[in-house]
Amino acid sequence: MRNDVNRQWVLKTRPSGPIQSDTFELRQGAVPTPGPGEILVRNLWLSFDPAQRGWLNDMKSYIPPVAIGEPMRAAAVGQVIESSHPNFKPGELVLGTFGWQDYVAAKSGGMLPVTKLPPGVAPNMALSILGLTGLTAYFGMLDIGEPKPGDVVVVSSAAGATGSAAGQIAKIKGAKTVIGIAGGKEKCAWLTREAHFDAAIDYKNEDVGRRLGELAPAGINIYFDNVGGAILLQCLARIAFHGRIVLCGGISSGYGPDRGSVSPLTNYYSLLINSARMEGFIVLNYVARYPEAIAQLMQWVKAGRIAYREDIAEGLENAPETLKRLFVGANFGKQLMKIAEPLLPIA
Ligand SMILES: NC(=O)c1ccc[n+]([C@@H]2O[C@H](COP(=O)([O-])OP(=O)(O)OC[C@H]3O[C@@H](n4cnc5c(N)ncnc54)[C@H](OP(=O)(O)O)[C@@H]3O)[C@@H](O)[C@H]2O)c1
Repeated sequence: MRNDVNRQWVLKTRPSGPIQSDTFELRQGAVPTPGPGEILVRNLWLSFDPAQRGWLNDMKSYIPPVAIGEPMRAAAVGQVIESSHPNFKPGELVLGTFGWQDYVAAKSGGMLPVTKLPPGVAPNMALSILGLTGLTAYFGMLDIGEPKPGDVVVVSSAAGATGSAAGQIAKIKGAKTVIGIAGGKEKCAWLTREAHFDAAIDYKNEDVGRRLGELAPAGINIYFDNVGGAILLQCLARIAFHGRIVLCGGISSGYGPDRGSVSPLTNYYSLLINSARMEGFIVLNYVARYPEAIAQLMQWVKAGRIAYREDIAEGLENAPETLKRLFVGANFGKQLMKIAEPLLPIA
């Protein structure tokens, strides 16, 4: 292992729009030596998240931007190879912010605190339905959306990792009608056939406003917004009395640095007229409650009440191209990447 090379994708140039061929650079270096209190982790699986594009912008946000020359930040699951930390031992599988690289000398803190995988949880599952996107759906829908029996709920990017879980959680909580908005026939068919949604709107081929009018004639109690833009305006126009808009994401903006180019909320008076609210949140606000959410999500999955999909790429060399997939809807389910098999027997 010490003779291994450590490949790292580092940020080379900040993009002003979509990720470009010169945004990242693949470098090769020595495997790091963990310092006191650190662990040496070999990455096995990487998570791909739309927020990663936002972390490339040099502007104030909920966490600092990735610095030029720094390995690209990413949630990952890896195996502990060496440990100078009393809580971790070689062979264990751990989750953390380990980045686009083969090896990392990790401290116990970070955006996602380093945690051991619960027994029996596979690395891919720890990054998908039990990872940040599953947790985002859980806290966003339950704490911000507050679903009630009989609600009409609309979710955008509904066949994606976050949206699919959010809609199913609303259904579990007694929503009467859960409507998913997604791009393409295949994604829409999956929503109603396998993911417990009552209806689906293919925003690439259907008139979203007209279909919402048909499916939610009395208005929308919860809109779980993953995309912003024109779809948000359509849902805002149909929000019901005391409705809730969960501002989870705005991927239609592309998450570039020019926040001034984000579509204006031309009809926000709809919130006033309907005594409705729109509230943003970041999943990292809820770190202390992750164990509660993971236990509940695991139970719902085992009971067959939440279906989820994973879209698995391979090979660290393909990381930048894989991140781009999220912004064109090429992924179907949680975008993951497998980059290595465990080196040691799993402890
Ligand atoms: N607030 C938080 O803490 C938090 C945490 C995690 C994620 N998020 C947000 O949750 C959303 C979903 O993230 P995810 O990781 O679960 O990704 P995902 O939904 O699995 O994948 C992204 C999807 O976005 C859709 N999309 C891309 N461009 C679009 C556009 N212009 N208009 C409409 N839809 C578009 C595509 O689906 P289609 O094929 O259907 O177009 C694509 O598959 C993102 O906005 C993300 O930033 C927020």
